[in-house]
Amino acid sequence: MKNSFMDRLGIRWMILGLIGLGLAACERPPMESQQLGYRGTGTVEINNPRLQQAVLAANKAPEPLPAVSSEGPKASEVYKNVQVLGDLSVGEFTRLMAAITQWVSPEQGCVYCHANNNFESDDLYTKLVARRMLQMTVHINSTWKSHVADTGVTCYTCHRGQPVPAYLWYEQPAPKQGGAMGWRNAQNTPATGVGLTSLPYDPFKMYFLDKESIRIQSTKALPSGEDRALRTVESLQHTESNYALMMHFAGSLGVNCTYCHNSQNFASWSGSRPQRVTAWHGIQMLRDLNLSYFDPLKPTYPASDLGPLGDAPKANCATCHQGVYKPLAGASMLKAHPELAAAPAK
Ligand code: HEC
Ligand code: HEC
Ligand code: HEC
Ligand code: HEC
Repeated sequence: MKNSFMDRLGIRWMILGLIGLGLAACERPPMESQQLGYRGTGTVEINNPRLQQAVLAANKAPEPLPAVSSEGPKASEVYKNVQVLGDLSVGEFTRLMAAITQWVSPEQGCVYCHANNNFESDDLYTKLVARRMLQMTVHINSTWKSHVADTGVTCYTCHRGQPVPAYLWYEQPAPKQGGAMGWRNAQNTPATGVGLTSLPYDPFKMYFLDKESIRIQSTKALPSGEDRALRTVESLQHTESNYALMMHFAGSLGVNCTYCHNSQNFASWSGSRPQRVTAWHGIQMLRDLNLSYFDPLKPTYPASDLGPLGDAPKANCATCHQGVYKPLAGASMLKAHPELAAAPAK
């Protein structure tokens, strides 16, 4: 008799404990809600002001180095192996070297890219990668204003004082057949890149490299043979990958779906906020960056920097945004470094 009473007491505590555990992942109220679009409930953004404060505090841009004169001899006249920054004055060149050291390798210093005080040598892969990154940064700021506006990016936008940015992606191996957990089909494994959901964990290759269509809402009753050939068939699998990508958008920017969409109709552009158009340009930009800059760096990296399938590290929305809808809360570090804004006049 006594025993079964104790048993019941134990079970009651266990149930309470489990409820507590279940709620531990919930966020404490109050939340803030904001009407972003047309009147109605379709574009209300709900945020936790306490979490937002912490994210913003972690996304502060560092103070720029003091400006220097653009007068005097050019870097190309003084140095031996300058292929990209030749038009800068020696003062500007040196200031930029100091800045990229601060942005990319503050602990390692200049030797991260220049060994043994031999500045002209291209022996280190890090210098070769950095040269390509210089070209990429100028390319982003000059060709992709449709996304980065005049705010632009510098090395710090992605690197944040670390040689390897906190957010990048590699191609993932094909899922294994069978096993104790059954056929997982490259999903059903909570992955941070897609908001810890069980959605496909690699939406990046198909959308940020292979240019697959992101549109999934069918506009016809039945797909035709031509649709199938063009791979524009709206399938369940395609929908799951699309939602994985959308979770990545929301997570990378620290927003809800309604930051871009009107939830009355996710496909409609006329009901969406202008931010959705900015995001669309962001998708095109990432495809360009991954195809023209990140992926081709594969032969330059040591094997230890390559992914499980031997591909080079690549960028997604989180690489720049890092939890905020404008990287570094919209601060423009580019203004203090106009040499990274446009290709120098030839
Ligand atoms: C993240 C990599 C990186 C770091 C860190 C770095 N540099 Fe450089 N450095 C480069 C690249 C890339 C070039 C070539 C630029 C070009 O081709 O236009 C270069 C070129 C140079 C050159 C020209 C050498 C020549 O004769 O061709 C000098 C001098 C130089 N850096 C000095 C420095 C100093 C001093 C520091 C530390 C304050 C530093 N660099 C830190 C990447 C780096
Ligand atoms: C759009 C984001 C982005 C920008 C902007 C960017 N980088 Fe990178 N960078 C990356 C990614 C992603 C990697 C791959 C990291 C790895 O090696 O795994 C990388 C790698 C590097 C590496 C090699 C690190 C290593 O140890 O393997 C160097 C050096 C570097 N970047 C320098 C620069 C410099 C200098 C700039 C500015 C002129 C710059 N990057 C701008 C994203 C960026
Ligand atoms: C940062 C902006 C942004 C956020 C946040 C966002 N989306 Fe999207 N979404 C887009 C863009 C841009 C497209 C269209 C891409 C294209 O057409 O190439 C799109 C497309 C879609 C589509 C396909 C519509 C069609 O034409 O078939 C659906 C469905 C969708 N999003 C749902 C969501 C959901 C659900 C969320 C939240 C988990 C979300 N989105 C978050 C920007 C966003
Ligand atoms: C190379 C860095 C970089 C990458 C990669 C990037 N963004 Fe951005 N994004 C920016 C910058 C910089 C701004 C700020 C532009 C401005 O000041 O108006 C921005 C602005 C935005 C905005 C507008 C925010 C607002 O409220 O006006 C949206 C939406 C956005 N990005 C979505 C995305 C999505 C989705 C992706 C991935 C497909 C992405 N971005 C990838 C750099 C980047």
